[in-house]
Amino acid sequence: MDFSPYFLPVAVAAILVAMILLFTSLLTVLMKMSDETTGDELADVKNTLRRGRIALVLSFTLAGVLFLAVKYIPGSGLEGHIQDWLNLIIRWAHVILGISWIGASFYFIFLENSLNRTENLRDELAGNLWAVHGGGFYYVEKYKVSPKELPKKLHWFKYEAYYTWLTGILLLSVVYYMNAKSFMVDPSVRDISAGMAVLIGIGTIVSGWFVYDILCRTPLLHKKQAFAFVGFGIVVLYSIFLTQYLSGRAAFIHIGALLGTVMAGNVFFVIIPSQKELVAAAKEGRPVNPELGKLAGLRSLHNNYITLPVIFIMISNHFPATFGHTANWAILAGLTLASVAVRHYLNLHEKGQLAVRMIPFAAVAIFALIVVTAPKATVKNTTPISFAEVEPIFKDRCTVCHSSHPTDDVQKIAPGGVMFDTKEQIQKMAPRILVRAVQTATMPQGNKTKITDDEREKIGRWIEQGAK
Ligand code: HEC
Repeated sequence: MDFSPYFLPVAVAAILVAMILLFTSLLTVLMKMSDETTGDELADVKNTLRRGRIALVLSFTLAGVLFLAVKYIPGSGLEGHIQDWLNLIIRWAHVILGISWIGASFYFIFLENSLNRTENLRDELAGNLWAVHGGGFYYVEKYKVSPKELPKKLHWFKYEAYYTWLTGILLLSVVYYMNAKSFMVDPSVRDISAGMAVLIGIGTIVSGWFVYDILCRTPLLHKKQAFAFVGFGIVVLYSIFLTQYLSGRAAFIHIGALLGTVMAGNVFFVIIPSQKELVAAAKEGRPVNPELGKLAGLRSLHNNYITLPVIFIMISNHFPATFGHTANWAILAGLTLASVAVRHYLNLHEKGQLAVRMIPFAAVAIFALIVVTAPKATVKNTTPISFAEVEPIFKDRCTVCHSSHPTDDVQKIAPGGVMFDTKEQIQKMAPRILVRAVQTATMPQGNKTKITDDEREKIGRWIEQGAK
């Protein structure tokens, strides 16, 4: 079953439902107000209403745009073009939000690691730190629990996380779910339907969160090293499973999405609620349950270590040597280990300890990956081969998509601008063709045009003989 025709209508419906929910919650905020509402609370309400109004306008616009898209794009011949632009814009937003989230989170990790915790501290302080940045001096204090009086304006960091996750899921939908047949299914891995592939993808993300969350509710949570081992094992199991069912690329991106969801889920379900409780307790002058802060701290520590692998995995999605390898799940595991080691080194470094052995470990791991993913030396066939012999292969197997006028049912414009209509175009791309069609066999996509090993060998030989 192909979901793509239903995707936009479902998205419009989802936005409408979200708008109704938002509207009713704004109404409840208003109704709670009474004559005794004080100035501070009034400001709070006004703030909520103002934010709600912005959210309503934004979702109205989005729903309108999507509605127009559903109505006018199908059959207009512009599907591919519009999808490319959606991809570009959402990706742009996703990267910017991700930078804001991870940037702030790195800054606070650095603060936590580098605080002065001993010299000249008032009793109520856990630590302080002086810094110079952008032409000014900054002085930060961290409280042991909470200040005696809460400040009027308290900054929260949460929307970056939520919106990074939302744009990530949107991007996943635009790139993968709306083109599941060509981007998620690889018949040489397993010939499943597009609908099945999407279900596996979404199932991975949802179940992954629950598996992680349940694990966090066991005593294992407090045994940091054991937790790391078990968590890593689960990621490897998921990778093995996904690489048995989906294209390598889709498998990689879903492990990235799973880890990203764990991070955003930690913020949404644990860290922010426990901070709300902290603020509420401080306002009412009652003691806080120290357990809450500790739990949030551990989730935050997990996020700290997951960040670098997620970014590595997301970027590796552009490098077929990683996901195109036959043991791609092991490559993924290697990338994860190497990047966690780098994070560990940075954490200890910021605390003023040197964990120098982490650097060689990461370097060796990455070097091993480079070696393992190197193209295999094939038996050299030196029989001369001419362009006339390989040209029909490109015509039969590639120009369906890679042409100024693609005839493929999905790719309506040449993917990546790569076209093989003329000899010059083919020669210019020869090194990339060698990588994608011969060494990693990640082209034709999902081997849709059923290229044979013999044809791959011919292309490889022609390129190795100078692509003349
Ligand atoms: C079913 C459509 C389809 C067919 C057929 C196809 N490709 Fe592609 N190709 C794509 C898509 C989509 C991309 C962009 C995504 C990516 O890079 O994986 C792409 C990207 C590429 C790139 C540029 C990316 C890079 O790594 O430099 C090269 C080179 C390439 N294809 C070579 C080939 C060759 C050679 C063939 C024929 C043997 C072929 N493709 C057949 C869909 C196709």
